[in-house]
Amino acid sequence: MTGNPYGEFDDARREYVIHRPDTPLPWLNYLGQDELIGLCTNTAGGFTFWRDARLRRLTRYRHNNVPLDLGGRYLYVNDGGTVWNPGWKPTKTPLERYECRHGLGYTRLVGARDGVEVKQLFFVPPGETAELWQTTVTNTGAAAKDLRLYSYVEFCFYEALNDMTNLQRTYSIGEVEVEGPAIYHTTEYRERRSHYTLFACTRETQGFDTSRDAFVGVHNGLHEASVPFTGASQGSIAHGWNPIGSHELRLRLEPGASETFAFVLAYVDQGEEPRFERPGVVNKATGRRLLERLAEPGAVDTAFDELRAMWDGLLSRFQVECPEPSLGRMLNTWNQYQCMTTFNLSRSASLYETGIGRGMGFRDSNQDLLGFVHLVPDRARQRILDLAATQLADGTCYHQYQPLTKKGNAEIGGDFYDDHLWLILSTCAYVKETGDTSILAAPVGYADRPGSRDDLLHHLETSIAYTLANRGAHSLPLIGHADWNDCLNLNCFSTEPDESFQTTGDVEGSAAESVMIAGLFLYASRELAALYRHLGRPDDEERLGRAYDEMLAAVEEHGWDGDWYLRAFDAEGRAVGSHERDEGAIFIESQGWCVLGGAGVGNGRARKALESVHERLYTEHGVLLHQPAFTRYHPELGEISSYPPGYKENASVFCHAHTWIDLAWCLLGDGDRALDYYLSICPATKEDRIETYRNEPYVYSQMIAGRDAAVPGEARNSWLTGTAAWSFVVAAQGILGVQPDYDGLRIDPCVPPSWDRFHVTRRFRGVVHEITVLNPNGVCGGVRAMTVDGRRVPGNLIPLSTGTGTIHVEVVLGAEQAAEAFG
Ligand code: BGC
Ligand code: NOJ
Repeated sequence: MTGNPYGEFDDARREYVIHRPDTPLPWLNYLGQDELIGLCTNTAGGFTFWRDARLRRLTRYRHNNVPLDLGGRYLYVNDGGTVWNPGWKPTKTPLERYECRHGLGYTRLVGARDGVEVKQLFFVPPGETAELWQTTVTNTGAAAKDLRLYSYVEFCFYEALNDMTNLQRTYSIGEVEVEGPAIYHTTEYRERRSHYTLFACTRETQGFDTSRDAFVGVHNGLHEASVPFTGASQGSIAHGWNPIGSHELRLRLEPGASETFAFVLAYVDQGEEPRFERPGVVNKATGRRLLERLAEPGAVDTAFDELRAMWDGLLSRFQVECPEPSLGRMLNTWNQYQCMTTFNLSRSASLYETGIGRGMGFRDSNQDLLGFVHLVPDRARQRILDLAATQLADGTCYHQYQPLTKKGNAEIGGDFYDDHLWLILSTCAYVKETGDTSILAAPVGYADRPGSRDDLLHHLETSIAYTLANRGAHSLPLIGHADWNDCLNLNCFSTEPDESFQTTGDVEGSAAESVMIAGLFLYASRELAALYRHLGRPDDEERLGRAYDEMLAAVEEHGWDGDWYLRAFDAEGRAVGSHERDEGAIFIESQGWCVLGGAGVGNGRARKALESVHERLYTEHGVLLHQPAFTRYHPELGEISSYPPGYKENASVFCHAHTWIDLAWCLLGDGDRALDYYLSICPATKEDRIETYRNEPYVYSQMIAGRDAAVPGEARNSWLTGTAAWSFVVAAQGILGVQPDYDGLRIDPCVPPSWDRFHVTRRFRGVVHEITVLNPNGVCGGVRAMTVDGRRVPGNLIPLSTGTGTIHVEVVLGAEQAAEAFG
C-alpha cells in the first residue's frame, strides 16, 4: 500500500484504479487510437473529436469550467426519485461504491447505491470512428427496481472556436433528426458538410431530448437537470440554441437481474453516398449500418477484445523485468501509453491544452517520435514526412501545424531556430529502428514552394545549412524567437501586455545566440554523419564531421562560464546563464545538450557541468530549469521572467529538460545518479505525496513546481509533454542501454551497481530479442561478454539477424567500458 488514498496501480491488468471520485484534480484518460479521440476524466468529464480537436469536435466542452471537468458523457439514474450518476458528477449524489479504472484506450466506471449498480465501459474500437459506452445495470438488492436512465451529451458544431465564440450565429443553426434510439446531430450538414454525429443506443429507448433548454432547464445547472429529476423526457427537437443528445431508458429489474446495452457516439461521414434521402432529410444509411453492426450480440465485447489485443501486441515490443518497480511499471505500460498519446495529440488537447490554440508542434512531434517509433513505425514514417512538409525552403519551419489540414499555422509562424534540427533526430531514430533508408529519398516539398519535390535528406541538409549560415558574433547559432525554451525570448523586448512573446520582436539581423542550439547541432550533425557512414558516403560524413568540429570549437571557446556552459548571448552580446548574472546564472538546457553533443570530453567540462547542475539545480522533485529564479521582469529575456518564481519556464522542474541531464549522466556512466534522477520526476513515485503532487500518478506532467514556488512539488499540465518520449529514451536506451542502431541492437547499460540483473524483451527489425543482463561485479556498465543464442559475440552490438523468430542474448557487465558514444 502506498500513501495514496485515491487510487493504485493494477499492474496485472494494466489499469490505474481510482477508489474515490474527489481526486486532487480530475484524473484524465484518453479513449481512441486512430481518428476518433475522447478525453475522459475519472468522473466521465471530457469531449470527443475526430482527428482535430479544433476543427472536428463532436461534443461540447467548456474549458476551465467550474468544476474543471464539467461536461462530458453523462448518465443519470433516477431510482424512485433519487437521481445519481455512476461517475459521481454532475449530481455528486453520494455513492455507496465508486470505482474508476483507467486502462489503455478505455475507462471503466462503477457506481452503486441503494441496491443498484451501474457499470460503464468507454472505449473506441480500433478502426472505428465510434465511441462506445457499454453499460450494465444490475439490481443487487432484494426488491424489484423500476429505474429510469438518461444519457446526455451536448453537441458541438465541429469548429470549437467558432462554436464557443460566434453565438449570434450558432444559436440559430442547430439541427437534429431523431429515428428511434438514434439521434442525428446534423448542424451545417445542409450546406458544406458530409458528416454528422450519431448518438444512439443499442437498446430500445422510451424517450429522448435534443434541446438543452428542455432537458436541463434554462435556469438550471447540469447537476439539477430537470428531465432526470422529473423522470419524463420531453421528446424535444432542437431548432437552433443548443442541441444535445439524451435518451430515456426504462428498466424493470428483478433482484439479481441485470441488463447490458451500449450507447454509441459516432462520427459518420457519408463519403460518396447521396447526402439526402429526400429534400431536407439526411441520408442516414451509413449511420444505420454502423448501428446495426454494433447492436449485433457480442459485437461490443469483440470490439473490446480487439482493443486489448492491440495493446498487448504493441506493448510486447518492449518489456522489462528489473529491480526497480516504478521503472518497470512506467516503462512496461504507462510511459509507452503516454508516448502513443503524444503521437496522437502532440500538445493539442488535454485538460490544460484546449486543442484550439495549438495544433501539432514541429519540435514537439519530432521529439515525441523517439518514444513511439518502436510502436508504430509506419505511422512514424508518415509523421516525419508530414513534419518535413511544413519546413520552408530556407530551413526554418512552421512552429505548429493543424492536424486536419497538415498546413502550417500562420499565426505563430516560424523562426524558432532549434525547430529544424529536431527533424534530424527523428529521422535517424526512424532509420535505426526500421532500417528503412528509403525514407531519405521520399519526395517531400517545402511549405513555401508549392509543388516542389525535394527529398527528405535534402530537408536534413537544409536544416544543417541553416544553422551553419545563421550564427552570431561567437560563431554560435542565432536563437530567433526562442529555442527549445519557448520563453527565452532574446529578441522580443515586450513592454505591451497584449502582445505575444513568441511572435513579437524582429529576428531579422538579430545577434542573440543560443548555446543550447549549438549543443543540439553537435548532436544532430554527429547523427547525420553516422547516417552517412551507414550509407557509405564518406565525403558527406567528413563534411558533417568538419561542421561538428567547428561548432565544438565555438562552444568550448565561447560557451564555457568556468563551472558550466552558458545558456546564450542576448541581443547585446551579454552572456545569459553566467555567474555574472544575479538571476538565471545557470540553466540546464545547455548543460544537457552540450554534454549529449559530445562537448566537454577530454577537458573535464562535461562532468564539471553535470556536477554544477547537481549542486545548484537538483532537488528531490527533479532538476530545476535554472537558478536563481527571476524575481523581476527582464525585457531582454522575455516570457521566462514573466512567470512567478518556481513555475513553468521560470525555474520549475520542467520535466522534459530534466531528462536530458539524466541521459547525460548515463553517457557519463553514473548508474546511481541516472536512476535517482529518473525516479525524482517519475509519476509512479509520487503516490506517497499525492496531496502535494495532485496530478495523475500514471503519466508525466510538464512541470513540477520548483523550490521557489509556494508549494514545491506540485505538478501542473499532465499528459501532453515531451517528457514522455524522453523518459522512455532515458530508461530504455540510457539506463537499460538497449539502443537501436543501424546495424543491430547495441547494449550499453548504465545501472546502479546494486542491480544484479535485469531482463528486456525487445522486438527489433522483426526479431524478438530476449536480453538478460547480468551484473556479477556490481558495476554500472560496460559489456564484458555477450552471447547470442549461446554463441559469443564481440563488442556490445547484437548484429541484425535474418530470421523472424526469437533470439536469446546474455550480457555480462563488467570491467572494460565498451562505451561507444551514446546515440
Ligand atoms: C509555455 C510553452 C508554450 C509557449 C507558447 C509558454 O508559456 O510554457 O510551453 O510553448 O508558452 O505560447
Ligand atoms: C512546451 C512546448 O510544447 C515545447 O515546444 C517547449 O519546448 C517547452 N514548452 C519549453 O518551453
